[in-house]
Amino acid sequence: MNKLLKPMDCGVLCMLLVSFWTGCGTSVQQPVVRPPQIQGASHVGDQVCADCHQAITDVFASSAHARFKVPGAPAGQAGCESCHGPGSLHAQSGMATPAVIHNPRREPGTCLDCHQEIHTKLRLPNHHPVLEGLLQCVDCHDPHGRDIFRPAGGPFYASLNESCAPCHQEQARRFVFEHEAMREGCTECHDPHGSIQSKLLVQGDANLCLKCHAQVQFGNPSDMLIGKVPHGQKVQAGSCWTAGCHTQVHGSMVDPKLRF
Ligand code: HEC
Ligand code: HEC
Ligand code: HEC
Ligand code: HEC
Ligand code: HEC
Ligand code: HEC
Ligand code: HEC
Repeated sequence: MNKLLKPMDCGVLCMLLVSFWTGCGTSVQQPVVRPPQIQGASHVGDQVCADCHQAITDVFASSAHARFKVPGAPAGQAGCESCHGPGSLHAQSGMATPAVIHNPRREPGTCLDCHQEIHTKLRLPNHHPVLEGLLQCVDCHDPHGRDIFRPAGGPFYASLNESCAPCHQEQARRFVFEHEAMREGCTECHDPHGSIQSKLLVQGDANLCLKCHAQVQFGNPSDMLIGKVPHGQKVQAGSCWTAGCHTQVHGSMVDPKLRF
């Protein structure tokens, strides 16, 4: 019998509030709409998990999710089980049936029931195929360690861009003529979860570029200078990259103006 219940089965009755410490002494009430459930299991607290998973428990203290507090539960009692579900059955059976616990690597729903805004984005017309199972939250987020914005198991110094590089080498490689925007990170232009724009772009038109590239207007509105070059006619021809101009937005091997 499968003891794992889909979190959805428990409905609104599971609505509860957690306090989330912001780090500067204040706490924010955050509704946990559907905490993961496991039929017949109850919460045991992080200390019990530590008995068998010491290494994870040690690093977890500095994770964003370790700051959960469920009202009524002692501090540090709700962290592990807020993602993995109540652990009493798993802790009792230990080695025998380790599967009586959720693993969000295989079930992104356990994350998405709390992060519904991410769920919405992953269902937009253009999205990273997480719900389709082609990549996981943990490809970009370390759930246990100090920095949730680096890939799980990735190098300690990995930056945001480096979490994209293993799968998108062509865009993340070194170019002879770099586009300095890349130093700000891929997320300057792409939403990592999903977007209504194609290619996960945060904006689908010239405004994507104009937020960093100052325009100088003089006289007639069509006389617009960008980088000392008249652009008035050009920006009416389409977006900066689809109009056949700066097609190499990530960088170029041959052209400092990123045209080819
Ligand atoms: C009595 C020892 C014991 C206790 C207590 C225990 N575990 Fe485990 N757990 C294991 C063993 C053994 C495995 C299987 C080997 C492994 O993956 O490390 C496992 C596996 C897991 C897995 C991976 C399951 C999978 O299917 O991928 C998760 C997640 C997990 N434990 C979470 C927890 C959490 C959360 C707690 C506290 C509520 C906890 N464990 C308490 C022994 C224990
Ligand atoms: C933010 C959600 C989240 C929290 C909180 C969390 N985990 Fe996990 N846990 C995950 C995810 C996601 C994976 C899958 C990681 C992977 O495959 O790289 C995982 C995997 C595991 C595993 C399987 C072995 C492994 O390393 O893949 C164990 C054991 C485990 N967690 C124990 C714990 C314990 C103990 C705590 C509390 C100290 C905890 N987790 C807190 C999300 C969480
Ligand atoms: C029980 C509810 C809950 C679950 C389950 C959960 N989270 Fe969170 N998570 C929160 C809350 C609350 C915050 C802090 C407030 C916020 O930024 O929304 C947070 C913060 C985050 C942040 C941002 C941290 C920051 O510093 O801004 C990331 C990334 C994140 N979670 C990813 C995940 C991933 C990946 C999983 C599954 C492996 C997961 N969460 C599971 C409730 C949850
Ligand atoms: C392709 C990599 C990638 C995947 C896959 C991914 N994320 Fe993210 N996520 C990011 C990046 C990068 C940011 C930081 C966004 C920023 O700085 O603008 C982020 C930010 C977040 C935040 C903070 C709030 C926000 O919107 O910025 C949450 C919460 C979050 N992710 C949850 C998740 C969950 C849950 C999953 C899996 C269902 C997931 N992410 C899958 C890359 C990813
Ligand atoms: C684990 C692998 C993986 C990681 C890490 C990853 N991606 Fe992706 N990415 C994919 C897959 C798979 C697709 C879907 C490809 C398709 O549909 O053809 C995709 C699609 C995209 C697309 C749309 C491509 C198109 O032609 O429509 C963009 C843009 C993108 N990713 C940017 C990023 C950024 C930015 C990051 C880092 C925050 C990132 N990716 C991290 C695997 C990954
Ligand atoms: C200055 C804005 C900007 C930055 C920064 C940026 N991109 Fe893009 N990216 C774009 C635009 C615009 C397109 C659409 C190009 C097109 O349709 O011809 C695109 C397209 C893509 C595609 C689809 C394939 C392609 O080349 O058309 C992938 C994958 C991608 N970007 C990944 C990344 C990754 C990974 C990073 C960080 C290393 C990154 N991008 C940083 C603007 C940017
Ligand atoms: C996050 C800020 C940022 C964004 C967004 C951005 N750029 Fe840039 N871009 C820069 C910086 C900084 C430079 C280097 C300084 C300069 O030339 O203005 C640069 C340089 C360039 C150059 C070379 C200019 C020269 O004369 O050598 C071109 C061409 C360019 N960007 C096109 C684009 C296009 C097209 C987009 C939209 C897809 C875009 N940029 C979006 C920051 C940005």
